[in-house]
Amino acid sequence: VWSLAPQAHAQAWPAKPVTWVVPFAAGGPTDAMARDIADKVGKQLGQQVIIENIGGAGGTIGAGKVAKAAADGYTFLVGHMGYMGAGPSLYKKLTYDPVKDFDAVFRFPDTPLVLLVPKSSPFKTAEELIAAAKKAPGKINFGNAGVGSTSHLIAALFESKAGIDVTPVPYKGAAPAMNDLIAGQVDAMFDQSNTALPQVAGGRVNAIALTSLQPMPQQYPNVPPLAAGTLPGFEAATWYGLYAPKGTPKDVLAKLHAAYLKALGDAQWTKKMADQGIQLLPEAQYAPGAFAAHTAAEVDKWRKVAADANIQID
Ligand code: MLT
Repeated sequence: VWSLAPQAHAQAWPAKPVTWVVPFAAGGPTDAMARDIADKVGKQLGQQVIIENIGGAGGTIGAGKVAKAAADGYTFLVGHMGYMGAGPSLYKKLTYDPVKDFDAVFRFPDTPLVLLVPKSSPFKTAEELIAAAKKAPGKINFGNAGVGSTSHLIAALFESKAGIDVTPVPYKGAAPAMNDLIAGQVDAMFDQSNTALPQVAGGRVNAIALTSLQPMPQQYPNVPPLAAGTLPGFEAATWYGLYAPKGTPKDVLAKLHAAYLKALGDAQWTKKMADQGIQLLPEAQYAPGAFAAHTAAEVDKWRKVAADANIQID
């Protein structure tokens, strides 16, 4: 019997299913994006990629668990702008450091958000909502996916830029928040434009504004960007990506990145994403080094944004 050569690790990996932790409820935007990419990457690897949903506290619970997981190439975190970018500036007692405790593996494409209201809502435009909020500070409720989730952060930015005061209502993910929005239990919500699309097209909720600078005529005809109305320059999109616990073997990370790039070579798949309004990125931005640098830059950026917008989290 030959002793294990140093490369034996990479050749053997993945010898069993790989787990990607999504730190929100199933059926939401992070979950949908992760499942789609996990399926394609798993096919390239010839091994199943399982999604595990560990929701709560805007993604910080699941992220904290992965930070402490074995760096053996079998547990990963699907991270996003909230808990991996804004988290450190919002949470006083974060159990992980997005930069020091993780290796960035690859970045996903970005998704802009859309401002949604229930069908029964009196608000037909963002301007009407802003005017009502100015008349009755704190009265309008905004559902979100948890404190520090993107749905929360973007609502806080909107609040700050519009000079209004709304009341956030946190859930364990955008999916349960959406259910309450459909039922009219909350007045509004910012959701990722791709997962909101079937709800809007199905007539269950109304879309009244976009966070993209440009309109999205294919997906959201007649829905104006916030930037085209009373909030010039307003632009926001969620970034996502895959992270490994720090110290995961480099050859494993390289194999995963290569499998992802190969999957992205499927033009039918990327067209399907683009048709949903998902913003594909130049290939260089998907790379581990670029994604690590992006994460560090976002942690810095959000410190300033959170301070300027006075986003407070207890
Ligand atoms: C968010 O608002 O941060 C995400 O949409 C959360 C989710 O995927 O449920």
